[in-house]
Amino acid sequence: MTGKSAKRVAVFISGRGSNLEALIAASTEQDCPFRIVAVLSDNPEAGGLTLAARENIETFAIPRSGFGSRGEHEAAVLDALSSIEPDIICLAGYMRLLSADFVGQWKGRILNIHPSLLPNLPGLETHKRALALGMRIHGCTVHFVNEGMDDGPIIGQAAVVVRPDDDEDTLSARVLKAEHRLYPEMLRLAATGRVRMSSGGETVLDDASAPDCDDIILISPVQSPKL
Ligand code: GAR
Repeated sequence: MTGKSAKRVAVFISGRGSNLEALIAASTEQDCPFRIVAVLSDNPEAGGLTLAARENIETFAIPRSGFGSRGEHEAAVLDALSSIEPDIICLAGYMRLLSADFVGQWKGRILNIHPSLLPNLPGLETHKRALALGMRIHGCTVHFVNEGMDDGPIIGQAAVVVRPDDDEDTLSARVLKAEHRLYPEMLRLAATGRVRMSSGGETVLDDASAPDCDDIILISPVQSPKL
């Protein structure tokens, strides 16, 4: 894919930017159907902004505190976007809920990554909650964004096993590794049009072939005895 036909992606972040880093790395691979053209943050201290600047990607720090209302803040974000003209927005740890008006203007063109197997565990502290619930499988989800929190049609998920000796740190590290694999792959699908959101708000695949894996994966908390 030539640089010209690659989809233009703006990434929204609030923090360290490890998913941003994974997306940037993928975008430099040969024939990648997307390129990161801008990084926006509501947090001027976000580590991801430094990372983006180092890669010569245009950055915008638009702190919420500089504006009287969410609407005014979003107007400034939309203004920045109009100068970049992205095709797709990727939320990568952007800890701010977008209004229905904003989402409506970008319907089907905003993706988010969330560290749980949605619709389980939207919101914060997903790893701690997964452990407290005794879940045996945890993971992450990439979905199209609607006006709800961590809500919208699912594109893809990656599951990780919860190990009996996991704590919040070990589990979050394993999920983050999965995020870094999942997000670039799902963005690839969206950028090539193999997956899209229908006007009815569902995920549509242009190629509905089933993934090549077992139908049932049994996750036991202990090693199964040899049969
Ligand atoms: C990631 O784990 C991402 O899934 C999560 O924030 C983290 C950002 O890390 N997003 C959400 O919780 C959205 N509800 P990063 O800045 O290193 O990519």
